[in-house]
Amino acid sequence: MKDVDTTKMSADDWDELNFPRPEVQEFDRVVERAISRRGFMGGVLAFGSGAAVMGTSFLKGSTAMAQAGSRFPFEAIPIATDNTVHVPEGYSWKVLVRWGDALKPEAEGAWDPASGVSVDMSDKVFGENTDGMELYNIDGREILVVNSEYTNRRVNLPHAENGVPTGLDDVRILQHLQGVNILEIAEGENGWEIVVDSPYNRRIHHNTEMTFSGPAAGHDLLKTAADPTGMTSLGTMNNCGSGRTPWGTYLTCEENFNGYFGSTETAQDQKPLDVSVGFQRYGIGVDGWGYDYHKWDERWDTSKHPNEPHRAGYIVEIDPANPDATPVKHTALGRFKHENAAYAIANDGRFVVYMGDDERGEYMYKWVSAEPYVEGGDTSRLMVDGTLHVAVFNDDLSGEWVPLTPGTTGMSAAEIAVFTRMAGSAVNATTMDRPEWVAVNPTAPEAYCCLTNNSRRGLINEDGSIRTNAGGEPMIPNGPNPRELNNYGQIVRWRPEGGDHGATTFAWDLYVMAGNPTVHDDAYAGSSNINEGNMFNSPDGMVIDTTGLIWIQTDGNDGNEGDFAGMGNNQMLAGDPETGEIRRFLTGPRGCEVTGLTWSSDRRTMFVGIQHPGDDGGDWPDHGGALARSAVIAIKRDDGGLVG
Ligand code: FEO
Ligand code: CA
Ligand code: CA
Ligand code: CA
Repeated sequence: MKDVDTTKMSADDWDELNFPRPEVQEFDRVVERAISRRGFMGGVLAFGSGAAVMGTSFLKGSTAMAQAGSRFPFEAIPIATDNTVHVPEGYSWKVLVRWGDALKPEAEGAWDPASGVSVDMSDKVFGENTDGMELYNIDGREILVVNSEYTNRRVNLPHAENGVPTGLDDVRILQHLQGVNILEIAEGENGWEIVVDSPYNRRIHHNTEMTFSGPAAGHDLLKTAADPTGMTSLGTMNNCGSGRTPWGTYLTCEENFNGYFGSTETAQDQKPLDVSVGFQRYGIGVDGWGYDYHKWDERWDTSKHPNEPHRAGYIVEIDPANPDATPVKHTALGRFKHENAAYAIANDGRFVVYMGDDERGEYMYKWVSAEPYVEGGDTSRLMVDGTLHVAVFNDDLSGEWVPLTPGTTGMSAAEIAVFTRMAGSAVNATTMDRPEWVAVNPTAPEAYCCLTNNSRRGLINEDGSIRTNAGGEPMIPNGPNPRELNNYGQIVRWRPEGGDHGATTFAWDLYVMAGNPTVHDDAYAGSSNINEGNMFNSPDGMVIDTTGLIWIQTDGNDGNEGDFAGMGNNQMLAGDPETGEIRRFLTGPRGCEVTGLTWSSDRRTMFVGIQHPGDDGGDWPDHGGALARSAVIAIKRDDGGLVG
């Protein structure tokens, strides 16, 4: 496993490498199932007359939606396969901050493309691989909070063969370049720039001290030699999507945390049963994903500290207004591969958070606080006291949020918080096609979730059984996940009963099924709002702006050939929730993923993240053969108008 470059594999592929499941494709059978009526029944009826209607027209890739009345303030752009960013006529973009840029005056020039950054300066520069972000106006200052999801060992440790750490300093450099970045920005003559000497600038990384809240705080499952109380933690990791609260804090979401842990002994089965079963479900392996922390920093060695992985995989709350504030890991919101956290307020004022678990066949969740949110009131218990629910989708377009309680699951509250996936299994939650970002529509009582893809759904194993998720549940096509071998993805939408996000039942449909109508004429052509001019694959990031436009970012196959011919580089599109129309707004440089989106307080600038642009050897944004660098860009209208 040591010679595999983790940066070239998806997280799910890594997990399958660690925990192999048999894979034999009976191709004809699989295709037959995929195109059968039963295979894509989900969404046969849709909300409203103009929505993305499934059924027979669904097969044809009709462009009718594109001719409907338009609320888009821009003309769609074509795909790109080049090495830069494109936006529509009338808009311009500029780099705001890149991996390695200084966030403190003493770190100016500290990052060098050939030698990387020293361990002393590595927690004073902008981290690598930008992801979710939110902006806060604090005392008139614009404070951007941005995740750095993961790091590429080879380019950050150029002195180390294949980027394999050679000592604790190397591990520290990697740990510092991931986590969360807090930076003040300001718009001047040269556009938006970092305020390098701002007192708000802060790096939060894999070693930053935090505390636990909720039912698992202080429980035996969280106790370690370094923290016998089980109440404090070091670090937040694999910070993927973002969220915010109405009281001004930032939520960072720990996704593929499992990959950082390893074991200096191979006998995983020596652990207590609950620990080893949990390791299997969460993909905690012996080798990890090549970071090799466990060989130099004992905390990450599960043979010595088997509870350490129980202390990651949470929603973490950070106060950007107070640089000295200790982040809080909220165990009540569950432990899984958190993608993002999208809040809503129930009709009675309770605080609701929708969340997805991004792994093949895992679930969607909803948190509902016990007490209502009151502006200016005490918010400290709103992610502590309440109920976590998991989604069950029915094929008849109805659905239910099932509470995860000792009564429904047979598990204690602390066990539900730590082994949330098993709690979901206990109530027969619906296996999903990798839930990525959830977005709540601020203009209508509805929410959306990107189901990015699931190439293993419906696969037939050697023994004739169907491929399962990590919990052993067969990934049979179901309502919102209707296609086998789903390489394109879809976006599910739900409307809570009575228009109340506090309700436990909902109606759902599919807003879009991505596909390629130039290659396929069946379910893989996509839904009727997909056509040759707007097709894409693997929806991932998603935010709905104040006008109700849905911004969709992709993290998919950008090979532009075969099933993906005509889709080009990863991109950002905008969707109209009412007509279903989707238009391409931005194309990223070759090899990148587009992820993370927020706006300046005056809504005249849109900030977009460009992650891993160098994955196929590009040199964006510095060009001239320079090392490619993940970056956040600022996009404005040339006429200074609103952009969302
Ligand atoms: Fe970090 Fe599921 O994306
Ligand atoms: Ca993502
Ligand atoms: Ca993704
Ligand atoms: Ca990704």
